Amino acid sequence: MNRVHVIQELIDRKKAETYLEIGFGYGDAFLNIKAPRKIVVDPKFVILKKRVLKYFAKNISKNIPNRYHRMTSDYFFERKQHILRRFPPDVIFVDGLHTHEQSLKDVFNALKFLNKNGIIVLHDCNPLSEAVAYPARSYREAKDACPSGWNGFWSGDVWKTAVYVRSKMTDLEMFVLDFDTGLGIITRKKENNPLEFSEEKIERLSYADLEKDRARLLNVKDEEYFREFVKTL
Ligand SMILES: C[S@@+](CC[C@H](N)C(=O)[O-])C[C@H]1O[C@@H](n2cnc3c(N)ncnc32)[C@H](O)[C@@H]1O
Repeated sequence: MNRVHVIQELIDRKKAETYLEIGFGYGDAFLNIKAPRKIVVDPKFVILKKRVLKYFAKNISKNIPNRYHRMTSDYFFERKQHILRRFPPDVIFVDGLHTHEQSLKDVFNALKFLNKNGIIVLHDCNPLSEAVAYPARSYREAKDACPSGWNGFWSGDVWKTAVYVRSKMTDLEMFVLDFDTGLGIITRKKENNPLEFSEEKIERLSYADLEKDRARLLNVKDEEYFREFVKTL
């Protein structure tokens, strides 16, 4: 199972009308996911012709009406509110800039426009090495720093956003699936078992702290749990 399967199951189960993705990458998720309306935001779209053609061929009718917004998520949420009000997303995949600050901002903004019973999926919540979790301001900065064990994958400190949501936003429930670099599933339900970290404490958390207490900090769950969760929707 990977992010595409998870998001597709959520869309299908909820009979979602609108899917919003922050961060297109190479379109591996966006172009494969099927939904009646799909919107994506990215300041730079990297279109690899071969890949796009392959996805289009597989899923052509579903990809023609896609809406592509070439801009940052901040700009989109500020300047394109009319779109979000007209088509409130049922599922939002947050996978833009991999910093704690930006991913938290994206989650806050996503919540403003998410449909009442909508779901947010936050990518990169469960980095499995210090190099992958290297806190940088951009992929380029992480790559240039080349931390020990660097393998080209960068999740940054998005995991702190999971800790933040579980500590400070207790009207939300969040768990993190233990595959595909950690898929955080956020729903509008009261959190039964919140964490108690202050903002300052979250800022000071290190990768060693995550390693020591990963299951509790992230509320880590497996594929089987997700399958049961989907039935409750
Ligand atoms: C890891 S990729 C996304 C992968 C894609 N969601 C997938 O699952 O295949 C991250 C993307 O976020 C984009 N990005 C970086 N900063 C952003 C921002 N401020 N707002 C929106 N997207 C951003 C990058 O250009 C990059 O394409």
